[in-house]
Amino acid sequence: MKETVLLIEDEKLMRVTLEDALRTAGYEVTSFETGTEALRSLKSPDRVGADVVVTDVRLPDIDGLNILEEITQMNDAQVIVMTAFGTIKDAVNAMRLGAFDYITKPFSLDEFLLLIERALEVKKLRNENIRLKKDLGRCYGFPNIIGEGSEMKKIFSLIERVSGSDSTILILGESGTGKELIATTIHYQSKRKDKPLIKVNCAAMPEGLIESELFGHEKGAFTGAIRRKPGRFELADKGTIFLDEIADLPLSTQSKILRVIQERTFERVGGTETLNADVRIIAATNKNLEDEIKKKRFREDLYYRLNVIPIILPALRDRKEDIPLLINSLLEKCKDKLSKNISFSRDALNALIEYDYPGNVRELQNIIERCSTLAVSDVVGKDALPSFIINKTESGKQPSLSSVASEAEKEYIIRTLKAAKGNKTKAAELLGISRKTLWEKINSYGIE
Ligand SMILES: Nc1ncnc2c1ncn2[C@@H]1O[C@H](COP(=O)(O)OP(=O)(O)OP(=O)(O)O)[C@@H](O)[C@H]1O
Ligand SMILES: [Mg+2]
Repeated sequence: MKETVLLIEDEKLMRVTLEDALRTAGYEVTSFETGTEALRSLKSPDRVGADVVVTDVRLPDIDGLNILEEITQMNDAQVIVMTAFGTIKDAVNAMRLGAFDYITKPFSLDEFLLLIERALEVKKLRNENIRLKKDLGRCYGFPNIIGEGSEMKKIFSLIERVSGSDSTILILGESGTGKELIATTIHYQSKRKDKPLIKVNCAAMPEGLIESELFGHEKGAFTGAIRRKPGRFELADKGTIFLDEIADLPLSTQSKILRVIQERTFERVGGTETLNADVRIIAATNKNLEDEIKKKRFREDLYYRLNVIPIILPALRDRKEDIPLLINSLLEKCKDKLSKNISFSRDALNALIEYDYPGNVRELQNIIERCSTLAVSDVVGKDALPSFIINKTESGKQPSLSSVASEAEKEYIIRTLKAAKGNKTKAAELLGISRKTLWEKINSYGIE
């Protein structure tokens, strides 16, 4: 379907010229001489929709800014305001009232068409965002876990099924795939949700202290034990304990965990009293436990006890269909933090989807945060992505002739622009192309 532009301009020559240029560029155009007519048409029941509205500020009947105000209230068209040279106040007001942009007369047709193109591009991205947001709404009641591909659907239904029970759960997955997020979700979905969720990073505790951390100790159990201290299992009473990086537990501690699972009891370090463990255990690791067992670093019997219900989280590269959705939700978060309205250009998005993500969702998170913090314009182009992403997408396979050619073209344009000190007319001349073609290329390559 053709994109439609609604044009309001009282000067006939100007109106006809712009109309022609727009039609030639492939747009559907409706034009009006007065604001009243335009508004009537926009409000009529059989109205033609408009993607972009271009209006003059000075019209014989209504102020163009009033039209702008009315349109932004009733319709999602992008409005571009044409102002006369020297009326910067009009331009400022227009932007304040929600215009997409303004253009000062006199302007070239190239400039005009480029602006229309940009307005449409931003509108498309915005609509996509709205669609994605709606999709997020029907996310299985786990609003923090993003994903709607088949891999994640399996995970969602598994979480739903296990949350009600007390069974031990083992979460496996590469670094950054969301193991902690899933463990947390399971706890808050379970009937233990009002009791504590205690998280233990087994890799981060000094070996000599692990057992006293987990099971507590009695006064005088070792030098420095000046009073009795409850351990994490005691603190998690009636709740959930999350044993993260469980593969890193020393073998001796592994046997004590095994006992907790089998008998639901333990003793504090240096104590004789046997305590009951009313605790649900969720364990996680990014290591391959079967390998660890072969290397005699993990107890096989503990593995079987833990592995009652394994949840295996897919790597992000194996669920690429969820990447746009994740990006969108991450951008939403950055938006609030940075008060910027960032989106990615089409080729930037493609590069982000192509990339492999050894660090999975966490890595994607870092990349998005970095890009939106550093972004100088609202639309982040491929150029602004970290180089390892761009290089990756280009070195993975034999590059196509057209990608090599366009890379070279882009380089050459950048060099020429630099040589022309940013003067586009001069650069176009040096390159032997029209200003319009140069504009289009600058735009499509996302050259700053
Ligand atoms: N499906 C998802 N939807 C939204 N955010 C996610 C998803 N998976 C992971 N994340 C986010 O990615 C980050 C890393 O997740 P998390 O800490 O749970 O990973 P992990 O598997 O425990 O990683 P590690 O092995 O490095 O500890 C977190 O900020 C988390 O909120
Ligand atoms: Mg983790």
